[in-house]
Amino acid sequence: MYERKEITQQELDGQRLYCEKIRDAIAARPHFAMVDTYGCQQNESDSEILRGWLLDCGYSLTDDPAQADMIAVNTCAVREHAELRVFGNVGALNHAKAKNPELIVAVGGCMTQQETVKNRIRDSFRVVDLVFGPHEVWKFPELLWKTMERRGRRGNKSRLIAAEPSQGVVAEGLPRQRDGSIKAWLSIMNGCDNFCTYCIVPYVRGRERSRRPEDILAEARQLVAAGYKDITVLGQNVNSYGKGLDSGVDFPELLRAIDAIRGDFVLRFMTSHPKDATEKLFRVMAESEKCAHHIHLPLQSGSDRILKAMNRHYDRAKYLETVKLARQYMPDLVLTTDIIVGFPGETEADFSDTLALVEEVGYDAMFTFIYSPRTGTPAASMPDPASRAEKQVRFDRLVETANRISAEKHAAYVGKTYRVLVDGETNDPQHNLSARTKGGRLVHLIGDPALIGRFAEAEITDSSTWALFGKTV
Ligand code: SAH
Ligand code: SF4
Ligand code: F3S
Repeated sequence: MYERKEITQQELDGQRLYCEKIRDAIAARPHFAMVDTYGCQQNESDSEILRGWLLDCGYSLTDDPAQADMIAVNTCAVREHAELRVFGNVGALNHAKAKNPELIVAVGGCMTQQETVKNRIRDSFRVVDLVFGPHEVWKFPELLWKTMERRGRRGNKSRLIAAEPSQGVVAEGLPRQRDGSIKAWLSIMNGCDNFCTYCIVPYVRGRERSRRPEDILAEARQLVAAGYKDITVLGQNVNSYGKGLDSGVDFPELLRAIDAIRGDFVLRFMTSHPKDATEKLFRVMAESEKCAHHIHLPLQSGSDRILKAMNRHYDRAKYLETVKLARQYMPDLVLTTDIIVGFPGETEADFSDTLALVEEVGYDAMFTFIYSPRTGTPAASMPDPASRAEKQVRFDRLVETANRISAEKHAAYVGKTYRVLVDGETNDPQHNLSARTKGGRLVHLIGDPALIGRFAEAEITDSSTWALFGKTV
């Protein structure tokens, strides 16, 4: 089923009226708001919209919960660990509320799309005044205003528990307060249709829907005009961009169109599902001027049996073929991945397959996770005989392998010179600047702070598992 609900200008204007009401209501003294973000870049992007709305509502932004009159927590449901952190941190807001009874606490994001979480917040987290979902970010002012109206009334009724299911919202023209002035997120789609059996994302983020190419290109042009130098195109599976639109623009063509915008910037994207990474994509990347030669290609497992149980739609042979093809087009390709250890039923032999594939591919960096059962996903009810301790041992072996390979990959940079984007300062006493290669590798540099926000040539003099070190030349 293809869900799509485009937010109209009239609906947006309605939200602006709520902003005005809130502005008036808090005008007597300065009010501060804080947005606390968990999870992936998609959530970071949503938090930028929340900050945009809060500024439009008359708040100033703060990072200090003690100063805040309004705290919005943007949550992630992908693993239990993320959820536990949120529950802990929301519970701790009781202290802030005891000091400032006027404080409004709102919990949004992916966790709230699960009934169990909604109920738990309703029953056990009285500190929370508003629960809203990722599909309601576009109407945050309305929800905030209604929450304010209810306050003052007594009992359970005074709280607003929204977080309605996805209707496939696509909203253009929302305010957005970006983090920083060098790197920008550019969200091109939302939701996911892949239903990997371990993953909660399709349930909480709804069906896949893409923004129109003209809206994306207009935003990309604005970003370049505003001086952003590093643009990351975002989607749960960017390779299926355009599905359901009649524009005829697929992901490689969208990349090509963004690449053609005049200006000096690096173009990145995430995430690519291996089943949909095509030769056309690699060709466009190789031919493009600005596209980083970097692909984040989540492997998840190197065992054919487990990949099938995960519903990933590729096997190790197909994955290796994809990597080979990508490297033919881009011999300098930086390759990163995600791997889950201890999926239900994973045996020692399955895990060995993962280790062997990791060695064969040679990733520049890897994000590794121990499988976390998510209620409502198919994998959560699969038999899972391996103990937590066994999984931990496998996980440690994988991390050790990942670190060794990263260190080897990084060592190969030493003695060479790369064009890097300088993006800030570091706490490293020997190297004052932080930068990224076009492939996305972190570089600590000695150089002039005036270079921040600019491209520079860097000679790499040393390396570690995590970073490259050098000086500007
Ligand atoms: N859409 C992206 C990323 C989704 S979540 C993609 O497909 O790549 C990011 C990573 O979290 C996934 O790649 C996976 O490795 C991990 N992950 C997702 N669900 C998980 C679970 N239940 N337990 C452990 N790791 C999980
Ligand atoms: Fe989750 Fe798979 Fe969709 Fe990624 S592609 S968000 S892992 S279901
Ligand atoms: Fe987490 Fe939601 Fe992203 S579950 S990983 S914040 S899409």
